[in-house]
Amino acid sequence: MHTLLIVYHSQSGTTEAMAEAVIAGARGPEVDGVDVQVRSPLEVSADEVRVASGIILGTPENFGYMSGALKYFFDHVYYPCLEHTEALPYALFVRAGNDGTGAVSSVQRIVAGLQWKAVQPPLVVAGEADPEDYLPRCRELGLTMAAGLEAGVF
Ligand SMILES: Cc1cc2nc3c(=O)[nH]c(=O)nc-3n(C[C@H](O)[C@H](O)[C@H](O)COP(=O)(O)O)c2cc1C
Repeated sequence: MHTLLIVYHSQSGTTEAMAEAVIAGARGPEVDGVDVQVRSPLEVSADEVRVASGIILGTPENFGYMSGALKYFFDHVYYPCLEHTEALPYALFVRAGNDGTGAVSSVQRIVAGLQWKAVQPPLVVAGEADPEDYLPRCRELGLTMAAGLEAGVF
């Protein structure tokens, strides 16, 4: 059984709405053999990351960077995971007021050091976006990751 870890932070709920759609996609009826675990970046352990078959990260953009909670996650797991999680398939979703590029680049710099492997470009939702447009794309992201792990394509 593959384990898919979903680690996200949300302060005012907009990233959480994206996360719920991602989780629904990953746990959808199309996928059978993947155990989807949802964790706060403030609580997840390096061991959980080390045994995961894939990881999806979610964050708002705060001050042109990933959220402090996701930065705490990386501070906590980086060295215990380094050299144990190379080529870990990952995906990223970001909610931003008007931009998102700072959050994306800050995450990409760190996962490049870990040598994780992006399964698709980051899903960035910025500004006054329509949930009817982006929530299906979030669901698709979760489904793509879970189905890919199940099929062994990542
Ligand atoms: C302290 C703080 C800093 C923020 N900085 C940025 C920023 O640099 N760029 C941006 O596009 N949005 C910024 N925003 C807007 C948030 O990214 C946006 O409101 C997002 O939807 C919040 O996600 P959440 O509801 O999951 O907490 C900031 C919001 C807060 C509270």
